[in-house]
Amino acid sequence: MITTDKCNTDSYKIALIYFSATGNTKKIANKIGDYLKKQDVSVTKIDITSHESKRDEISISEYDAFIFGFPIYSLRAPRICREWIEQLDGEGKKCSVFFTYGGFGKAPAHYFIKELLCKRNFTLVSTAEFVAKHTFNISGWQSAEGRPNQSDFKVAEEYVNKTIKRFTGEDSNVISDFNKPMYPAEQLDMAEKYRFTAITQLPTRDGMDCSMCKLCEKLCPTNAFDATSGIADPASCIACFRCIANCPDNILHTNDISDSWDKKLKMHNTTKEEIDQMESKIYL
Ligand SMILES: Cc1cc2nc3c(=O)[nH]c(=O)nc-3n(C[C@H](O)[C@H](O)[C@H](O)COP(=O)(O)O)c2cc1C
Ligand code: SF4
Ligand code: SF4
Repeated sequence: MITTDKCNTDSYKIALIYFSATGNTKKIANKIGDYLKKQDVSVTKIDITSHESKRDEISISEYDAFIFGFPIYSLRAPRICREWIEQLDGEGKKCSVFFTYGGFGKAPAHYFIKELLCKRNFTLVSTAEFVAKHTFNISGWQSAEGRPNQSDFKVAEEYVNKTIKRFTGEDSNVISDFNKPMYPAEQLDMAEKYRFTAITQLPTRDGMDCSMCKLCEKLCPTNAFDATSGIADPASCIACFRCIANCPDNILHTNDISDSWDKKLKMHNTTKEEIDQMESKIYL
């Protein structure tokens, strides 16, 4: 979906492009959009989440700069977002990326998105990460409930102010280098499969009747959900939970993964309290 807020015809044009399956990234994108409007820039918001969205029709030459927003899936931007970027030519234009994430691994996301955008001829000037409730809380985890909150929105405002200065040249720096992550891309490809060790039952209605609105089918980013049978195709489902989060009958679910929550905390050598108190951050 595309919406534009113009200030005046000569104003600096920014495309704010985001993928958001369960609404966290959209929440931050909306705040960023509001803060950008205060800066007399023209902002076009482009939601590339659904399969039906015009994910392949962004006109790069129409804009002066780009802000991309993605959730972190298995330590990186989701594969479908990375594949979408792969077919863009940034024409040397400036861009920035913000992530939302559930309080676990995130460092490789910044490193690999920089590498990818550079390869696609964009100039990355800043990145940011915002703590947000984990998608898998829907199925029993308890990570960062209530986030993003006012403290995260404050960081979003600072992120916009600093990024605009870099876009317009008032601050001529670009982003510093990120440390090479200890996991190579191939190992992260393997980690992508971990979610299926916890989520053994992909979204389903378990044969129960529903109002057949077909929103689950329409909104699915990968066209994996079949409303009639009420099940997700395991070959294409990316476990984003968009179908579950948007079902008006609240009938879709996976298996209950609350038992794996303690194991997850132990694996990351952390506690629920530590995660809930993590701060959102800007990288310049
Ligand atoms: C398949 C999948 C993998 C995820 N992997 C991570 C991860 O590696 N680290 C993390 O902190 N959060 C992870 N998350 C949580 C999301 O990054 C987080 O909840 C995000 O804010 C969701 O954004 P959205 O509401 O815009 O879809 C994952 C979520 C999903 C669905
Ligand atoms: S979104 Fe929910 S109510 Fe609508 S068709 Fe899908 S399962 Fe049924
Ligand atoms: S079927 Fe899978 S990919 Fe499609 S919306 Fe549901 S969880 Fe996401």
